[in-house]
Amino acid sequence: MTLLDLDPAQRGTVGNNEFNTYRPPEINGSYQGKDIVTVDQFTRPEDVLNLFAVADDMSRRVENREALTILRHATVVQLFYQPSTRTSTSFEAASKWLGCQRIIGRDGMTAYSSAVKGESLPDTVKTIEQTTAADLIILRHPDDNSSEIAAASTSIPIINAGSGRKEHPTQALLDLYTVQQELGRMDDLTVTMTGDLRNGRTIKSLAKLLTVVGSNIRFNFISPDVLRMPDEIIRALEGRGASVNVGTNGELDDVIPTTDVLYVTRIQSEWFTRQATEDVKDMLGSVADGVSDGSITNIATDIGKANYERAVEGYVIDNKRMQYAKPPGEMIVMHPLPRVNEISQEVDADPRAAYFRQMRSGLYTRMALLSEVLGG
Ligand code: ASP
Ligand code: CP
Repeated sequence: MTLLDLDPAQRGTVGNNEFNTYRPPEINGSYQGKDIVTVDQFTRPEDVLNLFAVADDMSRRVENREALTILRHATVVQLFYQPSTRTSTSFEAASKWLGCQRIIGRDGMTAYSSAVKGESLPDTVKTIEQTTAADLIILRHPDDNSSEIAAASTSIPIINAGSGRKEHPTQALLDLYTVQQELGRMDDLTVTMTGDLRNGRTIKSLAKLLTVVGSNIRFNFISPDVLRMPDEIIRALEGRGASVNVGTNGELDDVIPTTDVLYVTRIQSEWFTRQATEDVKDMLGSVADGVSDGSITNIATDIGKANYERAVEGYVIDNKRMQYAKPPGEMIVMHPLPRVNEISQEVDADPRAAYFRQMRSGLYTRMALLSEVLGG
């Protein structure tokens, strides 16, 4: 096997050494100069609330079309190893709204950068620091630990714009800001998350962040069994005092009437072969060592397809289902987007459909974050 045969995620991490000793810094009163790689860095509600106060200010300034200069001396780089519409454009816009004149954006890193030639993520990040004199790098990458690996490889801050199946911390911030804007509180909430709770990263980051900021949080995790929320996340949430109810799609209608936040997610087809590979290897145990990688991939591809077809059935949110939900002002429907078919378009006109407004929160919270990390 050559480097070029590797999954892009693996290619990006070859050659990492520093990662093992890297610990993300807690926010603890200051964002200045810090990496933002995981929501675990948020340990005090006031750090999130202070950021939201800055986001409120940013929102007023954008509405007034003010020319801000906080980042006028900054150089910001975006490296995207996975597709993105919202995160990439809102970070770029946030930088520009803050007066940044040097924003260097690279989408399609897996196709057009020297990662294709086998360059590791640590080397890429070190390269970018040299070639651009960047003050900050925004990174999206399919590897769970990519942001930590990148952060360990450079002295400039790394902001995680989505890593593997594990974290999307800036999405969690914008989601929570949306909850506060729409419902006026972040406590005493019944939050129902549906869709792909196993592979989705936004739900994991948001659920954890909610339990740092809010008290009396009740989660319903509704998904096909094969896409259940991982047990370690459930244990972490329960450890912080949240109550957790796990159910399959058939139970969605039972929980809708008491739900305050219905957070819908897409079935993440791009991860199904990898997920089925893990399952097949688990099932085979030590016998897997005697089976070729190619045979496991063939079986996993078939299982992945079958799992996907089963998973996409049966949980569409439509007007009929919304009839049983709480009234406007008391509940909202959110989605990190992109949506595929899981929310019917007829719901878009419902005042409880917050998923388009939710995206604007991304501009304000990312402006707040960039100004706190770089502006100080
Ligand atoms: N855009 C979100 C993410 O990158 C959700 C998704 O893709 O379904 O995690
Ligand atoms: N919500 C989100 O991360 O969207 P993109 O994948 O389009 O950036």
